[in-house]
Amino acid sequence: MNEITVLSRKDGVPISRFIYGQFAEHLGRCIYEGVWVGKDSTIPNENGIRTDVAEALRAINVPVVRWPGGCFADEYHWQDGIGPKEKRKKMINTHWGGITEDNSFGTHEYFELIRQLGCEAYVNGNVGSGTVQEMQEWVEYITMAGESPMANQRQENGQEKPWKMKFFGVGNESWGCGGNMRPEYYADLYRQYQTYVRKYGQENIYKIACGPNVNDYHWTEIVMKNAARYMDGISLHHYSLPKPDTWNDKGDALDFPETQWYSVIERAQYMDELITKHSRIMDQYDPEKRVGLIVDEWGTWYNVEPGTNPGFLYQQNTIRDAMVAAITLNIFHKHADRVHMANIAQMVNVLQAMLLTEEEKMIKTPTYYVFDLYKNHQEAELIDSYGAVAENISYTISKKNDQLTISLCNFDLHETRETTFINENGFAEVSGEYISAEKMDAHNSFEEPDNIVKQAFAGFKLTEKKLQVQLPPMSVVTLTAGEG
Ligand code: AHR
Repeated sequence: MNEITVLSRKDGVPISRFIYGQFAEHLGRCIYEGVWVGKDSTIPNENGIRTDVAEALRAINVPVVRWPGGCFADEYHWQDGIGPKEKRKKMINTHWGGITEDNSFGTHEYFELIRQLGCEAYVNGNVGSGTVQEMQEWVEYITMAGESPMANQRQENGQEKPWKMKFFGVGNESWGCGGNMRPEYYADLYRQYQTYVRKYGQENIYKIACGPNVNDYHWTEIVMKNAARYMDGISLHHYSLPKPDTWNDKGDALDFPETQWYSVIERAQYMDELITKHSRIMDQYDPEKRVGLIVDEWGTWYNVEPGTNPGFLYQQNTIRDAMVAAITLNIFHKHADRVHMANIAQMVNVLQAMLLTEEEKMIKTPTYYVFDLYKNHQEAELIDSYGAVAENISYTISKKNDQLTISLCNFDLHETRETTFINENGFAEVSGEYISAEKMDAHNSFEEPDNIVKQAFAGFKLTEKKLQVQLPPMSVVTLTAGEG
């Protein structure tokens, strides 16, 4: 029996909506096909961007999209992706499949995506193979109004007004694909490059330094010590693999044993320890918690689907992925004072995607539905609670506009878990929605797109100040309630 007492009178920490951010890289079929089909495509599009994809993403209130990478960011030269399409330079995407990148999706197309989604921009700059001047000019091109060499060039390319760029990343995985640097060297480079990420417009740009690979606490220590005062955020990357020590055989997205159900969930839960320990180091250099921990790559990572390009990282998405999403979002909420943004990898057709596409078809994954079920937590106040819960339950309570939102995940494969919430103010007008499955590999496919969809949830009972919930195995539930 699980019993949780809601402490709704205390003021809670706000949960940034940016925790629900997305990551879209020039990798496999994420940008090309997944987002961008071009204006002449027979697939319905607005200015080249798939209408079905944009609509689905708007419906879950995507707050920010990180672009263009990832490893791709540190070999991307933005000037190649502007101007007339036929004149754009082609390049080889060496990290991801060695395919030819024709640069038809560049800065203008990215900001068109941002406009259509009504969200904020997070551009990741190139430190690994780019110059300070190149980075400075990109920022000028994007954000400078009036007369300047870059602003003039942007206007010649058809964009009169500057765009708003809220977030800017200075390098990606500089300890690995972004240059194999030592933290001391990167910290110095960060200080230099960020100097030229200038404020050309009215708004400050939130500058993000490259942070650690998973549990590399030494990296965090050195970069914070040497550069904390020049940054607004520092990134953290952590992927959940069912067999974390064997990158050659990570385990399959669909065909997996029960042990891998639990091992991938354990890896997702590890996020809590990672954030706690990195935050502790950050606290030494930033006790006011001004600097955000930006988890700008997270999610599951399996073997690619059989028969697909190994460099494209295309994987299916099951109810197991939904558990990982719910557990991870609950962990981010708990650390909302330090985690200012997170970006799941990746938005379409790559790793733990929201959406999968196949030519003109598009399906929503179980992970998509978790983001949907959780969207009320965006910009809500985290509500404290105490009590005893089984280890297979993970939850968040938040409050916005006098409405409580309670999200729960029961990741037990077999057991229903009764959970009771106690609120001395009582509950009023409770309603619920959920996703669940009968089998641990349940997923949506192009043939059966609606195996897992959000449904109304009636498994709760209200008695005075108690709300009793019956959580089916493998389920994610969201209840909304007023206070009585
Ligand atoms: O998301 C896929 C890749 O994982 C990214 O390009 C890189 O930053 C990370 O190693």
